[in-house]
Amino acid sequence: MDIVVLVSGRGSNLRAIVEAIDEGRCAARIVGVVSDRRSAPALQFAEERHIPTRVVHPREHSPREAWDAALAEAVGAWGAELVVLAGFMRIVGPAMIAAFPWRIVNVHPALLPSFPGSDGPAQAIAAGVRISGCTVHLVDAGVDTGPILAQAAVPVRGDDTVESLHRRIQRQEHRLLPSVVDAIARGWMRLGASPTVAPAHEPSDGSTGFVSPPFV
Ligand code: GAR
Repeated sequence: MDIVVLVSGRGSNLRAIVEAIDEGRCAARIVGVVSDRRSAPALQFAEERHIPTRVVHPREHSPREAWDAALAEAVGAWGAELVVLAGFMRIVGPAMIAAFPWRIVNVHPALLPSFPGSDGPAQAIAAGVRISGCTVHLVDAGVDTGPILAQAAVPVRGDDTVESLHRRIQRQEHRLLPSVVDAIARGWMRLGASPTVAPAHEPSDGSTGFVSPPFV
């Protein structure tokens, strides 16, 4: 399955997908990487790996609707079947959602519906929860409100900082996101308003698909 990955930052999730593809754990091909930031290290990594890249900068496409349309056009040009938001820190708009209905996947550093938005780990620390994690979900018109595909849990320790918790969550993201993309690419996971996992690929313990192994 051809995918386009959208990034804004460091790109550790992009790396995890590339590694999973290289190791045969993810049946996808990255046909392009798009960023809203020219200086994103993720973009440099993509270039090093000879993956085609594009920057769609909000300053160059104003107002917001024009940026959204430019993004949809840039992403659509590669003819990909799936769009993966891997640390993309902007909310995609109606043009993107219309161009890729139920075909945009996002990874979020919290157990949604708790702690949506840009600072999931900080919200978890502030709320004093003892368990947090990450969520891979489909993107709809809301902010981190789309149908949940998979989640992984991590403990929140008493001495955690936002950074230490985020690092622990990211270790799970790097496992979860490629495995969800793989499940979609293989047709095990069907996308839509109510996504389903093929029975043969549901965990035998009756839990929801792709939950985390015991805490790591
Ligand atoms: C990831 O932890 C991802 O969950 C988060 O940004 C980080 C990007 O890291 N995304 C959001 O918070 C979206 N609301 P990366 O650039 O190293 O993959």
